[in-house]
Amino acid sequence: MRAPSELPRGIAAIEFDSSQISAAVLRLAAGIARDLPAEPVVLIGVLKGALFFTADLARALPTETDARIDFIAVSSYGNATRSSGEVRLLKDTSESVEGKNVVIVEDIIDNGLTLRYLQELLGHRKPASLRSCVLLDKPYRRQVDVKVDYIGLTAPDTFIVGYGLDYQEKYRNLPYLARLHDRVVEEGGVVAPEASTVLSDGHRRE
Ligand code: PRP
Repeated sequence: MRAPSELPRGIAAIEFDSSQISAAVLRLAAGIARDLPAEPVVLIGVLKGALFFTADLARALPTETDARIDFIAVSSYGNATRSSGEVRLLKDTSESVEGKNVVIVEDIIDNGLTLRYLQELLGHRKPASLRSCVLLDKPYRRQVDVKVDYIGLTAPDTFIVGYGLDYQEKYRNLPYLARLHDRVVEEGGVVAPEASTVLSDGHRRE
């Protein structure tokens, strides 16, 4: 595992670096292009987490793909690490999805309630087809059965941040997917301010 000499405070290790993310995004884009070669496709990115993933996925599609981009914003009620299961629509799509080939673009699927909510919401609006593309999967956390057409990477059972994913709105801007230090999650805050040592395997000693 490659790691920078210093990781941001609160980050324990890099789980997937930018080249692993790019390879996964390319694979996912190839799958979408294979299944929808001739029709217009609407990628609906789920804000805020899927902001960068949606942008990279759109650019990884073959240039001849007729791709459009829209966004929807939802939020789960709950605290920073646990969702309560209630999903709230914060921002709807700007265009109608009726008669269109829609791909929901999610950064992560955990308990599955967010994606199930979105599939039901958009499915009722008569799209020509409805698919779901998720970068990070935590299959062992699923509480509801949800069909996912394209899955990029399987995440370990740790709190992952970066590349759009946050902890209390922090870390979204990291260019990699990283594991949050357990103490940050346990204590609900950022770890001690003193400099820490990054070990050769990418882990850091606090
Ligand atoms: C995260 C993530 C997914 C959802 C997945 O969103 O971006 O949308 O949780 O969790 P689930 O499968 O357990 O429902 P969050 O509500 O944290 O909002 P954000 O994207 O703005 O960070």
